[in-house]
Amino acid sequence: MEIQTITTTPFDDQRPGTSGLRKKVKVFQTPHYLANFVQSIFNVLEDYQGKTLVVGGDGRYYNREALQIILKMAAANGFGKVMVGRGGILSTPAASCVIRKYQTFGGIILSASHNPGGPDDDFGIKYNTANGGPAPEKITEAIYQQSREITQYLIVEAADMDLDTIGEQQLGDMRVEIIDPVSDYADMMEQLFDFDAMRSLLSSGSFSMRFDAMNAVTGPYAQEILETRLGAAAGTVLRGEPLPDFGGAHPDPNLAHAKELVATMTGADAPDFGAASDGDGDRNMILGRDFYVTPSDSLALLAANAALVPGYAEGLAGVARSMPTSQAIDRVAAALGIECYETPTGWKFFGNLLDAGRITLCGEESFGTGSDHVREKDGLWAVLFWLNILAVRKQPVADIVHEHWKQYGRDVYTRHDYEGVSADGASALMEQLRERTGGLGGQSFGDYTVELADDFSYTDSVDNSVSSKQGIRILFDNGARIVYRLSGTGTEGATLRVYIEQPETDADRLEHDPQETLAELISLSATIAEIEKFTGRTAPDVIT
Ligand code: G1P
Ligand code: ZN
Repeated sequence: MEIQTITTTPFDDQRPGTSGLRKKVKVFQTPHYLANFVQSIFNVLEDYQGKTLVVGGDGRYYNREALQIILKMAAANGFGKVMVGRGGILSTPAASCVIRKYQTFGGIILSASHNPGGPDDDFGIKYNTANGGPAPEKITEAIYQQSREITQYLIVEAADMDLDTIGEQQLGDMRVEIIDPVSDYADMMEQLFDFDAMRSLLSSGSFSMRFDAMNAVTGPYAQEILETRLGAAAGTVLRGEPLPDFGGAHPDPNLAHAKELVATMTGADAPDFGAASDGDGDRNMILGRDFYVTPSDSLALLAANAALVPGYAEGLAGVARSMPTSQAIDRVAAALGIECYETPTGWKFFGNLLDAGRITLCGEESFGTGSDHVREKDGLWAVLFWLNILAVRKQPVADIVHEHWKQYGRDVYTRHDYEGVSADGASALMEQLRERTGGLGGQSFGDYTVELADDFSYTDSVDNSVSSKQGIRILFDNGARIVYRLSGTGTEGATLRVYIEQPETDADRLEHDPQETLAELISLSATIAEIEKFTGRTAPDVIT
């Protein structure tokens, strides 16, 4: 089979963000755009000749076309084998599971996560290393440098591969194995959780649940695990068929985008447990009847109840949260006498801690929760963890959370997103805040006195790498915090995220609406950063 060397010129916008390279489909369809990036990945990697790569994606528009290009380039560059999920499908956590289970060289995941899909929407690509986790910054930066210098890429001339039949095919000297995208992942879940207890809960007649797959990748996984292996009633999985445009919906499991599920979970007759996952299956939202569990509380609660779950019953080595995630998990870690690490936003920062065995559970406020079972956050895993806890405790979700707050106190929390604001305005806002951090210490705003303000910098305790400028933190002396950072996953303009948090231990106020409890801090967050002046916005677009 003939290997072609294609002459190309660099693009200057291929720097991976918080989670890989994300752009509009139209950008990825620009001649050579995808191929340049893929060749840049291969140019950075070493010693992969004859080795195995895993490739799969969330099934969004352009997934199949991209896969065919990647297969032909992997063959031309000398990989020995590529494992592909049938139909080009692999959820992000399932890809991580497969990379680890078969000890492959690494993997390429095609996804723009929770961003909308379709010809006019988003596509994405990221490289994961042999540990199954997103490549660290050292590698993503090297890929970016390559992408600015690239002059040629290699590709074999061949017909497209059949992606829909399980089994092996040959592409030049390289084997292509189409695998069942679900079974390895589902088997792993059976190892971690008490499927017998969960099965009896689901068949008890007094418990029901709904899982909203949002027309995205987790549909087949949820159907196999919840309905087939655990015997949940047919119809438990909503919007279970992965669609290239997610049915026009925004596949982000939050109160704004999973409205039907939220409505289903409202009222006296609502199911006991509701959950949703995102485009590529790594996020989760947890609901009880008339009750929403914030991701930060969910993480803390999983840690506090880990002893009830077989895969974690032996205890947690430690835990970690991203900096803007609430401090609820810190309290649980203190009670358990284990370490709690604070990392920058993005799953890649958990990798070293997980690999070194320092942490077992970790999570982010952005609906991401996970453990050392893979090296990605894992939506369905979090749902099953909850289901396992519910099967043991046999209490409503709301009661479990209320008891948690009584025991540990509550970190009242909200995130306000200002989406699609001007990139210049947003960076000017961050820049002026950064310049002012030094002078904010000791200043009082109403009831709040600033104890410390800085731009978060993280030193990885395993490899000592330093990541700076990870978000402006304003820490108040009563434990409250305001954090500002710009999104690194958007594809249009800029998104300013403001994270607002305040500890509450007064039993009478534990159940108050967070937007009310935090009202003063919310208004302070706008005045301190002069949000209106820099963005022209008087209110956020999304509140979670
Ligand atoms: C967002 C979340 C972050 C998460 C990432 C990938 O990134 O805030 O926690 O790791 O998506 O799912 P951001 O857009 O804020 O850079
Ligand atoms: Zn995702």
